[in-house]
Amino acid sequence: MHILKRVFVLTKPLLTKESTYFFLLLIFLSCNGPVPLQRGLVTDKAMVVSAHPLASAIGSEIMQKGGNAIDAAIAVEFALAVVYPRAGNIGGGGFMVLRMNDGSMDALDYRERAPARASADMYLDSLGQPVPGLSFKGHLAAGVPGTIAGMLAAHEKYGTLPFSQLIQPAINLAKGGFELTQKEAKKLNALQKDLSEFNTVAPESFMKMSWHKGDSIANPDLSETLKRIRDHGRDGFYSGRTAALIVEEMKRGNGIISYEDLKNYRPIWRRPLTGMYRGYKIISMPPPSSGGIALLQMLNMIEDYPLGEWHKYDSRTVHLIAEVERRAFSDRATHLGDPEYHPVPVKELLDPKYLEERMLSFSLDEAAVSTAITAGNFSLVESEETTHYSIIDPMGNAVSATTTLNGSYGSKVVVAGAGFLLNNEMDDFSMKPGVPNAYGLVGGTANAIAPGKRMLSSMTPTIVEKEGQVHMVVGSPGGSTIITSVLQNILNVIDHGYTMQASVSARRYHHQWLPDYLQMESNALPDSTMVLLEAKGHQIKKRSDYGRVEGILVLADGRLEGGADPRGDDAAAGF
Ligand code: GLY
Repeated sequence: MHILKRVFVLTKPLLTKESTYFFLLLIFLSCNGPVPLQRGLVTDKAMVVSAHPLASAIGSEIMQKGGNAIDAAIAVEFALAVVYPRAGNIGGGGFMVLRMNDGSMDALDYRERAPARASADMYLDSLGQPVPGLSFKGHLAAGVPGTIAGMLAAHEKYGTLPFSQLIQPAINLAKGGFELTQKEAKKLNALQKDLSEFNTVAPESFMKMSWHKGDSIANPDLSETLKRIRDHGRDGFYSGRTAALIVEEMKRGNGIISYEDLKNYRPIWRRPLTGMYRGYKIISMPPPSSGGIALLQMLNMIEDYPLGEWHKYDSRTVHLIAEVERRAFSDRATHLGDPEYHPVPVKELLDPKYLEERMLSFSLDEAAVSTAITAGNFSLVESEETTHYSIIDPMGNAVSATTTLNGSYGSKVVVAGAGFLLNNEMDDFSMKPGVPNAYGLVGGTANAIAPGKRMLSSMTPTIVEKEGQVHMVVGSPGGSTIITSVLQNILNVIDHGYTMQASVSARRYHHQWLPDYLQMESNALPDSTMVLLEAKGHQIKKRSDYGRVEGILVLADGRLEGGADPRGDDAAAGF
């Protein structure tokens, strides 16, 4: 009943030349469309949504014991490093956006950095061409990890429970083992060849002829590493035995991370980026993530159009979203990088006048051509496998954090004797202007490699405020698709009235300027809409499912709804 009513309300703008497709749209909705009113887990006070049920349960327990959202986040981050090793990590980095119940906001950058011996041409051959795979697999692909320093910094500034209490559940899981899910068993099986190829010492905890659902997997070396971090804090990772194991690993595998690199790593507290969209305040990550800027740019460009009157599956909606994505990603390629190394024109990129000009070339009838969309030119003198968790605690504090090794299982290198995977985040730098990385993203000098520099990211941990209160916490993995997944979830909820669960379940599509086509999950749109999009000039490419959005929505009565992405084993937990 609810669905039919909703469709009826939305029919008005369809009385256009597109109305001939309306009947087909109705059929699509009844067969394939997510139910916009389907609710996820609803709790009274506290909620964690993450990529793994065990991690979500641990975060919830920490809050039940009196911990706040930041305590829970630290516990979830460590738990994911054990139970979700393809993206959860202590050998990678991430971003955390948080909003305390007094309205204050903060953003923690624990992104990896390039080692001191890194150089702009380190992945190029003698002819100046990128060596395939060099920045993506093996020891040379790893940046200096930031996760441990990040968690310690978050705890120092906002934690309320002892750090040892927050890391202990992960230690127990690594020591005692846990049961593999079907999906994780499959992923581990696919990893075996790379583990043999890229490790100097066989990582026994991860290696097996064939993993199955329900197998128990333990990692004693990781448990010992986590204990050293519990007992010695920063020195348990960035110096002492763990640092020695990392540096020895580098020497055996011709990597370049040194003791000095580890000693010098520091996380950075940054001011979150904020903007308004239809009266909602959007709080997101500043550079070296491109996520916050691109998200705010796109929302601004969309705001003039009546998305709420158009249906989510209307070709006008999809076309508009694709066109703003195209424009934002063109700016990303040119202007975004580590702000410590390159002056990112944040104010200019978010200037409403600039964005208005950006849309002058937009036509509702016709797709643009990406080669005709170039980045803005500012007179300024002189940044797919990741994981996100969203948390709201009983006091009303909120955390949105995205953490990553970059590719699935990062560089595929396990630090021998320490039990954890190293990231392959160096691939997020631009190897050479115009040459795409693993996500097909091109970049320029703003994101060129330099010693100590942070590589540009797409991670977009975001919090949405309504009338001065937290309204939504959202984020996703997915490389370049992160930004557009977060965008589409905000639009699903604010413009299309979706519940959190229906929003994260909804099929997605993605445009990133180059390559110049619209990527689409299967069944993302009715055939009728696809026909109209193609008639406007969009090239559409179907692709595998992507992103695993974890969202929390504050309901009108103050309860919390978790949206856990059905594309994985993701789960909401709370009370
Ligand atoms: N490695 C994915 C990102 O940071 O965007």
